[in-house]
Amino acid sequence: MIKRNILITGGAGFIGSHVVRLFVNKYKNYNIYNLDDLTYSGNLENLLDVESSQNYKFLKGSINDANVINNFFEEYEFDAVIHLAAESHVDRSIANPFAFVETNVLGTVNLLNAAKKYWGRNCVNKLFYHISTDEVYGTLGETGFFTEQTPYDPNSPYSASKASSDHFVRAYGETYNLPYIISNCSNNYGPNQFPEKLIPLFIHNVIANKPLPVYGDGKYTRDWLYVVDHAYAIDLVFHKGKLQETYNIGGFNEWQNIDLVQLLCQIMDKKLDRKEDESAKLISFVKDRPGHDKRYAIDASKIKEELEWEPSVTFEEGLERTVDWYLNNEIWLKNVTSGKYQEYYKNQYQS
Ligand code: NAD
Ligand code: TYD
Repeated sequence: MIKRNILITGGAGFIGSHVVRLFVNKYKNYNIYNLDDLTYSGNLENLLDVESSQNYKFLKGSINDANVINNFFEEYEFDAVIHLAAESHVDRSIANPFAFVETNVLGTVNLLNAAKKYWGRNCVNKLFYHISTDEVYGTLGETGFFTEQTPYDPNSPYSASKASSDHFVRAYGETYNLPYIISNCSNNYGPNQFPEKLIPLFIHNVIANKPLPVYGDGKYTRDWLYVVDHAYAIDLVFHKGKLQETYNIGGFNEWQNIDLVQLLCQIMDKKLDRKEDESAKLISFVKDRPGHDKRYAIDASKIKEELEWEPSVTFEEGLERTVDWYLNNEIWLKNVTSGKYQEYYKNQYQS
């Protein structure tokens, strides 16, 4: 079995922690280095179960600092990068776009430069795997799907910064022969997601009996994927994906926000022993998000046919597991929703 030194960026975050766990447990011949700056959404509590594994090491640092990245490349001789570190929340990008340019664009270019420098032109067995989003494709109308050929058309500062980073990755592949793969995934949900995104925020608010702020008319549509299934897809793409290509990853699972919230409320009523429809009474329609994309839906047939990947859990199962996780991890939830989060919440939902 080949030994490999793999740098995973953003491994203390939501998706990154599931990827780190999978790789540390499954590939004992790999050394997994988790580089994370522990911003508000990065949390080492997500990785307590793997932190003492022999093949795991946490590296604290920001991808925005080229010297930090170069020093780590020099010291640990990474063979591959799985790049997840990012500013990831659309509403925060509307309030502060520049942070998204710094981390998502400049941070990615810093990593690309380091890979180019340390791997040189002889990149045998090297790989820069960039994790991106379906939001780069912009919005769909009532019908149709995003394919790997759909032109980029981002609408939020978040998606614009991710689109830009994707372009840089592809450009380094074309210009410097850097071996890369990009995958663009739909909305993830599951354990360890920071409670600013729709599903964990609403679970948190139902528990606390707080209003559930549905933007606009609630008829916006997203394609939801259980985070562990995304981690399985990343494993497959990393090992079997074709170099210099893109893979779309999606849940084959479209929901209008309001229907999803109703289903979540029903599950929560049962779990919390509440009367039927009690949680749904918390639903409150609030002012819309500016530039709100109407509908996302992924055509995931390429990864299904080429790599035989499919989601392993249904949405109902995944949502129930997610609710159970949050109910069983109230201390985690309490820790991440104290302090600065309170300020963010007040600013975001005050009017
Ligand atoms: P997250 O916000 O939960 O985690 C991001 C992680 O990156 C955190 O651990 C944070 O500390 C770290 N980080 C942020 N800035 C950093 C910096 N400058 N240097 C080092 N580390 C830094 O995000 P997530 O939802 O886990 O998303 C991970 C990746 O997957 C992102 O690139 C995102 O664009 C992409 N993605 C997310 C979704 C989704 O639904 N959440 C869907 C598709 C793609
Ligand atoms: P979100 O979880 O922020 O993911 P994204 O914007 O990246 O798709 O939002 C998912 C959907 O839920 C999106 O249509 C916006 C909507 N939404 C609300 O209606 N209320 C909220 O408080 C949040 C955070 C999101």
